[in-house]
Amino acid sequence: MATNGSSAQGAPALGGKAYPITDHTFDVVVVGAGGAGLRASVGCAQAGLRTACISKVFPTRSHTVAAQGGISAALGNMGPDDWRWHMYDTVKGSDWLGDQDAIEYMCRHAPAAVYELDHWGVPFSRTEVGKIYQRPFGGMTTEFGKGVAQRTCAAADRTGHAILHTLYGQALKAKCQFFIEYFAIDLIRDAEGAVRGVVCLKLDDGTIHRFRAQITILATGGYGRAYFSATSAHTCTGDGNAMALRAGLPLQDMEFVQFHPTGIYGAGCLITEGARGEGGYLVNSEGERFMERYAPHAKDLASRDVVSRAMTMEIREGRGVGKNKDHIFLHLDHLDPKVLHERLPGISDSARIFAGVDLSKEPIPVLPTVHYNMGGIPTNYHGEVLTKVDGDPDATVPGLMALGEAACVSVHGANRLGSNSLIDLVVFGRAAGLRAAETLKPGDRQPELAKDSAEFPLSRLDRFRYAKGKTPTAALRLNMQLVMQTNCAVFRTGEVLAEGKEKIHAAWRSGADVSVTDRSLIWNSDLVETLEYDNLIVQAVVTMEGAANRLESRGAHAREDYPKRDDVNWMKHTLTWIDPVEQTVAIDYRPVHAYTMSNDIGYIEPKARVY
Ligand code: SIN
Repeated sequence: MATNGSSAQGAPALGGKAYPITDHTFDVVVVGAGGAGLRASVGCAQAGLRTACISKVFPTRSHTVAAQGGISAALGNMGPDDWRWHMYDTVKGSDWLGDQDAIEYMCRHAPAAVYELDHWGVPFSRTEVGKIYQRPFGGMTTEFGKGVAQRTCAAADRTGHAILHTLYGQALKAKCQFFIEYFAIDLIRDAEGAVRGVVCLKLDDGTIHRFRAQITILATGGYGRAYFSATSAHTCTGDGNAMALRAGLPLQDMEFVQFHPTGIYGAGCLITEGARGEGGYLVNSEGERFMERYAPHAKDLASRDVVSRAMTMEIREGRGVGKNKDHIFLHLDHLDPKVLHERLPGISDSARIFAGVDLSKEPIPVLPTVHYNMGGIPTNYHGEVLTKVDGDPDATVPGLMALGEAACVSVHGANRLGSNSLIDLVVFGRAAGLRAAETLKPGDRQPELAKDSAEFPLSRLDRFRYAKGKTPTAALRLNMQLVMQTNCAVFRTGEVLAEGKEKIHAAWRSGADVSVTDRSLIWNSDLVETLEYDNLIVQAVVTMEGAANRLESRGAHAREDYPKRDDVNWMKHTLTWIDPVEQTVAIDYRPVHAYTMSNDIGYIEPKARVY
């Protein structure tokens, strides 16, 4: 395929091996074709910027496709609503670790972003009068915590699927150029620290491609697969986060890992929170609706960290269900079959296939399961990547943006509310497009890349391609996943985290013994999974380190030895850097943005977080 400004180039010599490189020049290169990557691609391409979107999977297989329950926006279709109430809920949900300027931006722009999706063709479910249907979701209230909001706009329980397909169509229409099944190896950073593009491996023919761009946008998703049991796809390996770490940039708040209360027991597949939004409830082995004890007001629709902790405590205290008393039941069997059919058709299938259960007749066995990473690449609300230089915590990295689950903007803080992730993708995807259009001139001349600009990524490729160790990647990955699942889970203690640190660092070091047997570059899943494992392990390490360092409980980070939130000492974001050669971690902190963007709403003061 002829590409925009591409040319084949002579091979640089690399450790005795030579790779021919195909060069491409674009104004903007977006890595990742999930909701955030596609929304940014649409905006950039519509602004006349030459835009490439690179994806390791076919765009409509990106993990956004699996988002079920919906997208939050204060439309007020099912009763009064206000973006300020949405903002209050999000700040409270974040346990006051979210940046309030970014949260204001998201909640204020959410309704317009949803109507835009509607006009572009997302087949939202409808009310009887034809408005977009909205359902209750955890932590979403009216009147600053007084009532229950119906704020989550849904396309049955396939909302992400509907949005992703619509955005892909819009990106094609806007003439964004797709590079499908290209695996991004590493960023290109110049001597001044600006990001100038990315080097990729084309999976189907093994060729190497160097993309030069005025702006590179990382929208590569989360790293749920660092854990053993996750709702995330096998492909959720946080490749962009790891590229940022290797480029010498920090990741932020990685200790905050969300466990979704209702992963199917044993399989990990998601049963949407929308199931509880439609009236489903959890019970223990005594048939008790135990959430009434933990969250008397919101009950089963308390925020996810609260529900996951309550379930874990019920199991620990011997009130789990099943032969081993190690899970909980979710009841939907009392709901009108019409509701199940119209509003929850997808999970009816999931329950049958993955739990062997007819949910109209029996409860679904569920367990808190890793679902979302609140942490990621720090950004401001334009999507520009932040790094701390010379004491300035809000300095931006020229040429680099990050979006979606890969980013930490930070609107979710210590805990994300359900349905706030899809809105994050489209609001900040749009913001990044606007910023790129504002700051770039289409077709502007770009400086030549240094001759050795592909050397760092290609030497990384070679390191694994020619690895001669004895441990298969699958064994390394399983070890990492079990350490994370055991030592960095719903509840944490200093002792368990200290052991976790030792084990995860040992796992990092043992990567030197990796065995990759297939030396080819074409459809070499062993090599690609090794590159992905190498991405996962550094994120696992900084997650464990951040958790061990934070001596308080906040949102998803629940320390049994420090059970209280400590705003005096810990209302700050964790920043972690790695030294990939020495295999060490550095930690620093940056202040939370405790201010809003406008005078339309004042700063929301911290208070106890009860539901
Ligand atoms: C769900 O439907 O429960 C998942 C959606 C989300 O995580 O926001």
